[in-house]
Amino acid sequence: MNTFMNLFAIFVVFIQIQISLSQSVQSPPEPNLIQQLCKRNRYQTLCISTLNDDPRSKTSNLKGLASISIDATTKKVNGTLQYYVGVLRTITDRALFEMYGTCIEEYGAAIDRFLPAAVANLKAKKYSETMSNMKVVVAKPVNCDAQFPTTDSPVAARNKVVHDIADMTGDIIKTFVN
Ligand SMILES: *[C@@H]1O[C@H](CO)[C@@H](O)[C@H](O)[C@H]1NC(C)=O
Repeated sequence: MNTFMNLFAIFVVFIQIQISLSQSVQSPPEPNLIQQLCKRNRYQTLCISTLNDDPRSKTSNLKGLASISIDATTKKVNGTLQYYVGVLRTITDRALFEMYGTCIEEYGAAIDRFLPAAVANLKAKKYSETMSNMKVVVAKPVNCDAQFPTTDSPVAARNKVVHDIADMTGDIIKTFVN
């Protein structure tokens, strides 16, 4: 009886070890395309959230994901451009007017020219040209920042958001360039 109880206890422990082993040895789930694409991105978290935010990403291939990232960048650049245009309307100070005016020109060129070019070049599989377009876009918020004093800049935070999403998209495009 005692021996039986002991054997039973050993058996129970053995089963528990088996269960915990099989759980720990279980392989992690296969990384999906978004995880693959964002794995080496310098803005990994932003990359994953930007792509996941767009429902099209569920059925996209790698090139489709790159296209989604350019679209998200365009949206962010345009939103910030519209905000600066709104601010400009309220400005009476001449120097400040010129600073915002330069930002609007810089952002406007990204919206009118370089982001549409990036979209077209990606579509045509001209990846190094797409990369060049994105490099220009990345520079736009930097150029805007440069207009303002670095302390208490009214544009720094917004420009950083635009810079980071454009730079992140550039990193995505870079994975296509061989
Ligand atoms: C930018 O935003 C404005 C105002 O919301 C909109 O009319 C315009 O179509 C947008 N442009 C792009 C390229 O998204």
